[in-house]
Amino acid sequence: MVEAEEIWVEKYRPKKFEEMVGQQEILSRLQMFIEKKSLPHLLFAGPPGVGKTCAALCIAHELFGDGWRPNFLELNASDERGIDTIRTKVKDYARTLPIGDFPYKIIYLDESDALTSDAQHALRRTMEMYTHTCRFILACNYSGRIIEPIQSRCAIFRFRRLPEKEVTQMLKRIARGEKLTLTPDAIKAIIYVSEGDMRRAINVLQAAAVLKRKVDEKAIYEVSAVARPKEVRQMLQLALAGEFEEARGKLYYLLIGQGLAGEDVLVQVHREILNLDLPERAKIELMDRVGEFDFRLREGANERIQLEAMLAHFGLIGKPKP
Ligand SMILES: Nc1ncnc2c1ncn2[C@@H]1O[C@H](COP(=O)(O)OP(=O)(O)OP(=O)(O)O)[C@@H](O)[C@H]1O
Ligand SMILES: [Mg+2]
Repeated sequence: MVEAEEIWVEKYRPKKFEEMVGQQEILSRLQMFIEKKSLPHLLFAGPPGVGKTCAALCIAHELFGDGWRPNFLELNASDERGIDTIRTKVKDYARTLPIGDFPYKIIYLDESDALTSDAQHALRRTMEMYTHTCRFILACNYSGRIIEPIQSRCAIFRFRRLPEKEVTQMLKRIARGEKLTLTPDAIKAIIYVSEGDMRRAINVLQAAAVLKRKVDEKAIYEVSAVARPKEVRQMLQLALAGEFEEARGKLYYLLIGQGLAGEDVLVQVHREILNLDLPERAKIELMDRVGEFDFRLREGANERIQLEAMLAHFGLIGKPKP
């Protein structure tokens, strides 16, 4: 029997700031807090998979060393987003003293923007009450959903999507560690499908590497619910040139041949419009249409009919009436 392979996002999860890539300004600010041994409450905002949890764990490792585990509590707010979680779990943990010779422990609250406003107010009081024994690190996608009184009690850090260079660096590190061959095309493809989300980048790489130890572009598109950008671009170009039948053929290939969901295709259409060689005005019209069809799909309309209708519309935009 083949032993289940470890998940790479965990295996290669950085434990020290030096091991993280990107987010350099954030990391150096955090390092200063640690050197001065004065950590305020922190608010980490940003998209998924860019190092928020990683940074919190690195802080725990830096502060507590081997004794980090009992002094670090990670809670996922959206599992139990009610006021009761804050009242019970957080309070129970916050009121006991740190284990070992540390001034405080850390509570990491993931998805804290999913907390109801009541729960956030309860959290605010808890933060105040236990400031002597506990530091909070709140993570969220949108800081705007965090109530003002919490924001004003935290140092705010805005995490960004990771740039190409940093994702490449990490992918190469993993390829070395796993003795994989990773073609330059494959790296490009991973960057395209992951859009700066390192978790996604690593997961796609691992999924592709199951098929073959030499990972190429083809393998990446096979394991990700994303079409080659070229394919989407061709479909659009055909539609715009009034070649409706051919454009429709491409669409069927993406939906049936590649097994993509209609919404995934639409997201890529949206992305590719910007790359088309068209006057600004035409791009605007196309974007407007994409918005309309996105809405229709979300309302549950038949995706094939809607996407075909969209291609038909594109034909009208591309080839104005004589
Ligand atoms: N800056 C980074 N440097 C190195 N690896 C990273 C970085 N950011 C993310 N990763 C990798 O991606 C995985 C997910 O990162 P992390 O858990 O920190 O994401 P997150 O920002 O907390 O996302 P979410 O909002 O979904 O919780 C990590 O296990 C790690 O392997
Ligand atoms: Mg996280």
